[in-house]
Amino acid sequence: MSSSTALLVICSSLLLAGYVVGTDSKFNVTIVNDEPQTPIYCPLLDSCRFTHLACKYIAYLRKQPITRTYSTDLESAKRDLKSSNLDAVLHFNENFTDTFVAKMALGEDADTETLQSSQLKVWTVAEPADALRGYLQAAFDEFVEDIKKLCDLSERTDEFSFKDPIGYYSV
Ligand SMILES: *[C@@H]1O[C@H](CO)[C@@H](O)[C@H](O)[C@H]1NC(C)=O
Ligand SMILES: *[C@@H]1O[C@H](CO)[C@@H](O)[C@H](O)[C@H]1NC(C)=O
Repeated sequence: MSSSTALLVICSSLLLAGYVVGTDSKFNVTIVNDEPQTPIYCPLLDSCRFTHLACKYIAYLRKQPITRTYSTDLESAKRDLKSSNLDAVLHFNENFTDTFVAKMALGEDADTETLQSSQLKVWTVAEPADALRGYLQAAFDEFVEDIKKLCDLSERTDEFSFKDPIGYYSV
């Protein structure tokens, strides 16, 4: 095989891989973030400050192959699930940051309401695809890695809980 043929083979498999990723693994989601006074846009975490955590988690979601639209109305977003090309509605409740921090510190001792409010809630019509679950979890894992790094928690991770960050519900 000449080197130019080899190059052509490599290029076409890259193109094919790109094509498959581009078509098969894209999901459309609507995000409803009920945290008050949330900024319109948040960058990735750059300091150990527990404010607007929903907005900051969304920054990590932007790195995943997920097409996002935003809404302020959870009920109408859920209705759209049945009639559009929407795969899921992601909902952060108004107490997300406070309860996330409480759960982080309390772990198993956190009450049910705290555990509930600290979760990203994912609404779907049918069972969510494994790929979508994987992207949401990957974004969360990266978010938590940055929290541990920026807050110097890496040596003390046993003391903090980041369990069950996402709850799945069907409409
Ligand atoms: C996402 O939505 C767009 C526009 O509604 C649609 O063309 C596309 O097929 C949708 N993608 C998926 C994976 O459903
Ligand atoms: C958020 O916290 C406030 C104050 O504790 C409480 O009244 C409210 O019901 C909580 N909201 C949700 C959605 O749990």
